[in-house]
Amino acid sequence: MEKKGKIVLSGVKPTGQPHIGNYFGAMKQFVDLQGEYDESLFFIADYHALSTLHNADEMRNNIFEVALDYLAIGLDPKKAIIFKQSDIPQHAELAVIFNSITTMPYLMRAHAFKDAEAKNKEISVGTFDYPMLMAADILIYDTDAVPVGKDQKQHIEITRDTAEKFNRTFGEEFKLPEPLILENVAVVPGTDGQKMSKSYNNTIPLFAEDEEIQKAVMSIVTDSKSPEEKKNPEEDNIFALHKLFSSVEQLEDIEKRYKEGGMGYKESKEILIENVKKFITPLRERRKELEKDRGGIIKMLKENGEKMRERAEKKMESVREKVGVSLK
Ligand code: ADP
Ligand code: TRP
Repeated sequence: MEKKGKIVLSGVKPTGQPHIGNYFGAMKQFVDLQGEYDESLFFIADYHALSTLHNADEMRNNIFEVALDYLAIGLDPKKAIIFKQSDIPQHAELAVIFNSITTMPYLMRAHAFKDAEAKNKEISVGTFDYPMLMAADILIYDTDAVPVGKDQKQHIEITRDTAEKFNRTFGEEFKLPEPLILENVAVVPGTDGQKMSKSYNNTIPLFAEDEEIQKAVMSIVTDSKSPEEKKNPEEDNIFALHKLFSSVEQLEDIEKRYKEGGMGYKESKEILIENVKKFITPLRERRKELEKDRGGIIKMLKENGEKMRERAEKKMESVREKVGVSLK
């Protein structure tokens, strides 16, 4: 895609500590893409978090944490506009309009909704309506590309459907965005071999302290093969993480020794611990530095919020006119 004049946008929910699955599955792309597009917009999806998080102190804390995470992984305020969703009430306004042109049976097909329902939780209307707010986040800025993890693919499809439906019903207004999904990044496994997820308590936090890294890696579940036995690297959770953290040469060597026999899981874990530490330490240190400038970060969010609000309002003027609620 020719990137001139193009806009890339994505968001992260402030629901707690990010882990390496979030990073390699989604956030890393943000850093790689900033600067490649004419405009890079990255926001904190606080109203999306509100559909499950109902504690004001925790919310406030988590919002600031995502801002820190963004900066610590390398988003550069000179290249990217970092802002907070709730500073732009126009997102919610547009979601109300999308609600009116979308049917319940259509939204009931969303995987995220079906998963929540299968877990038999008391689902909030906000959870059910999550894709409409997400469509508003994306479409209100005429976004071209949306970097997300694989599990968000359907949400982007819903966004495109919603844009088309609006355009068909009220006239051409919204651009159809493209998802940017790293198809070659497999789901990062957690320490128990399931998908790494905050909900499963099996994570390696992205900004973990050394002891946490040590503990998490040591707890990775393996089979009970002895060091001498031959092993299939593709069936091992430690090896899956080596692919993300270890150098090409190291990886080749580990693979060879797994296949030939002669590498035990303990040794494999010890190598992994060193490599994870090498990767995380500079990120963690940077985050600690950034944390000292709380005032500066809050000021940045506020200023960017104002800037984005003006843009969103302009778009909404056109949208309101199309649906017929503004009088001429
Ligand atoms: P969690 O499951 O920990 O609550 P989220 O649902 O908040 O994570 O995911 C945020 C983003 O990170 C999504 O785009 C998702 O695709 C990505 N992601 C989450 N876990 C993983 C994983 N284990 N491997 C790859 N990507 C992941
Ligand atoms: N739903 C996304 C997630 O869970 C977060 C999100 C909200 C988002 N609005 C968005 C991502 C708009 C991209 C674009 O990860």
